[in-house]
Amino acid sequence: MSQIEIKSLNAYYDKLHVLKDINLNVEKGEILSLIGPSGSGKSSLLKMLVGLLTPKSGEVTLNNNQVNYTNKTDLRKIREQIAIVFQQYNLFQNMNVLKNVCIAPTKIQKRNQKEVEDQAVSLLEKVGLKDKLKSYPDELSGGQQQRVAIARALCLNPEILLLDEVTSALDPELVQEVLDAIRILAAEGMTMLIVSHEMSFVKEVSSRVVFMDNGSIIEINEPKIIFENPKEKRTLDFVSKILKDK
Ligand SMILES: Nc1ncnc2c1ncn2[C@@H]1O[C@H](COP(=O)(O)OP(=O)(O)O)[C@@H](O)[C@H]1O
Ligand SMILES: [Mg+2]
Repeated sequence: MSQIEIKSLNAYYDKLHVLKDINLNVEKGEILSLIGPSGSGKSSLLKMLVGLLTPKSGEVTLNNNQVNYTNKTDLRKIREQIAIVFQQYNLFQNMNVLKNVCIAPTKIQKRNQKEVEDQAVSLLEKVGLKDKLKSYPDELSGGQQQRVAIARALCLNPEILLLDEVTSALDPELVQEVLDAIRILAAEGMTMLIVSHEMSFVKEVSSRVVFMDNGSIIEINEPKIIFENPKEKRTLDFVSKILKDK
């Protein structure tokens, strides 16, 4: 049984057919990376999974339960199981780092304050921010804020973590620290869907890579095949171009 199964899924923004007949299974503990040109639908696929873009047709099952994205109870469940981190981290500016991480688990999930704080401290330590617990977002670099956002997502105890270009806005020396945190999560067996331009990282951590173009999945393969010997010409054109531009 796959953890996520997406079948014949189509989604639109008004008239724009943004996800076209998507079929994709994600196994538990898998690190699946999505690559493809800008505008190919990578972010839309992640947004659809957490209910920010409602599918028009097709189905999604999570742990064998079909998700009804128009049902509020299903949406609430989905958001407990799947956490998403975006390029722009959207922290609460009026709360310190610890509070930013603890607010949703205590107020929304109604978990015990002390237990949540202990978990938050250990997560912040994991992402290298143990000495910033009392800092406010405007006192942190972009890279530090992004690591707070990752800790915040993890403190919800999701089964699946979606990372949408989380290192794209960061200075190069901060990129590695964030990638290191993601490597630790990967080793711990967290199921992740990752959109990233860090191709060497994608090649290293992914169990499989999905190449998307113009709203469709063109190829799904092991990273070594995608980058060295892709089966589809469009994949080859894309990877040749990005590897050349590096
Ligand atoms: N909220 C939105 N409303 C309308 N069109 C959108 C919206 N978000 C994205 N799009 C369009 O959907 C297509 C796919 O976008 P996106 O999923 O962001 O691609 P990617 O993440 O691969 O760059 C693009 O043509 C983009 O302009
Ligand atoms: Mg995107």
